[in-house]
Amino acid sequence: MPEPLDPFPPRGGRLHCEEVPLEAIARAVGTPAYVYSTGGMVAQARRLKAALAPFGDPLIAFAVKANPNAAVLATLFAEGLGADVVSGGEYARARAAGVDGGRILFSGVGKTEEEMRLAMAGGIFQLNLESVEEAETLSALASSMGREVDVAFRINPDVAAGSHAKISTGSAHNKFGIPIADAPAACARAASLPGLRVRGVAVHIGSQLTSLEPLEAAFVKVGALIAELRSAGHDIATSDLGGGLGIAYDPDLPPPPTIEEYGAMLRRVAWDWGTRLIVEPGRLIVGNAGLLLTRVVRIKPGPDCPFVIVDAGMNDLMRPTLYDAWHHIQAVEPNGRTMAADVVGPLCESGDSFAFSRAIDSVEPGDLMAIRSCGAYAATMANNYNSRPLTPEVLVKGGEWAVVRERQGIDALTRDERPAPWLGSAE
Ligand code: LLP
Repeated sequence: MPEPLDPFPPRGGRLHCEEVPLEAIARAVGTPAYVYSTGGMVAQARRLKAALAPFGDPLIAFAVKANPNAAVLATLFAEGLGADVVSGGEYARARAAGVDGGRILFSGVGKTEEEMRLAMAGGIFQLNLESVEEAETLSALASSMGREVDVAFRINPDVAAGSHAKISTGSAHNKFGIPIADAPAACARAASLPGLRVRGVAVHIGSQLTSLEPLEAAFVKVGALIAELRSAGHDIATSDLGGGLGIAYDPDLPPPPTIEEYGAMLRRVAWDWGTRLIVEPGRLIVGNAGLLLTRVVRIKPGPDCPFVIVDAGMNDLMRPTLYDAWHHIQAVEPNGRTMAADVVGPLCESGDSFAFSRAIDSVEPGDLMAIRSCGAYAATMANNYNSRPLTPEVLVKGGEWAVVRERQGIDALTRDERPAPWLGSAE
């Protein structure tokens, strides 16, 4: 296997995205800015397609939540990926970006009737159910619309994912899925309801998994359940094995399992199930194909090491604050020296920090820095806290680049607000 393409190569001592100097992007669109590499995400999609090709026609449903930008979705759909959506908004985005309803899975623990209706009217490959109660609601709606919809129960295998608690989903106390022991009864109930076809089993135990073992343990349970459901007379045609494979955030740590190792594990476990294999990767496809470009505003002394204050903050990138996530940070034009620093954003919270006492490239005010591994769960989780407009997104392909989301204007911050009548007019 050749080394995977580095989407952000240093060329002539300056960091690029593919062939475009990051400095040129910063000059044109300002900072902070998200920058995505087409080549980086396409390479990951192709590696995964190759690893799963022995399965015939697997459905690789990109988890839209990881990066819902329309241009990113269009790039991945052009590679033949489908979509895994969890809201009416994601469903609408996926359709608008050009994917057929027959390649969309609908997951999510609290789908509303409105979302169910939207998906059934627009077309859906499969809806993953999270409870018998949800099956009953969906059945009533499907019947009223004169539709039949393919469903799978998401089972909770009670396997510890070994990831951060906030992104682990496969333990019994997590809200997701139904206990695996309840699946036969749940499937029997759903099969008795009009409008539903029980066609599959689904599982997803968590995100940023750095070992294949919990995944394999969960999948073995799924295999046994498929056999049990078939012997009870269900025509199980799909197995949705979720997403979750982690990516390398820290270049100094041992890398997580490769896509090829993941594929080999799937072949070992799921080969003879006789189902159409579905996976729902998000981070794996786009995580390392993006970075957050930011500029050093100023540097101030600190008790142990200086604070490097950058113009990106926790509202742009929530992951360090929410999950204590570690993101590699580098200078766009390193000068060969290093310094120890706390890298912090400008927001009024101590949690607005990207790195503590970290050895980083030595920087000065005005220098550009790159916060790596920001293609997934970064721009999509951004918000306007401290009344900061949302950051633009740029997509690069070879030597070309395009702004695929404009920087939000200040006006947008208050556009949807309305005066209360008793407050009078501001003028
Ligand atoms: N399928 C389902 C049902 C999911 O809930 C998720 C992610 C995925 C697939 C995709 O998982 P992935 O392949 O990306 O690991 N905001 C967090 C991650 C939350 C993941 C939520 N579910 C973070 O920044 O780490």
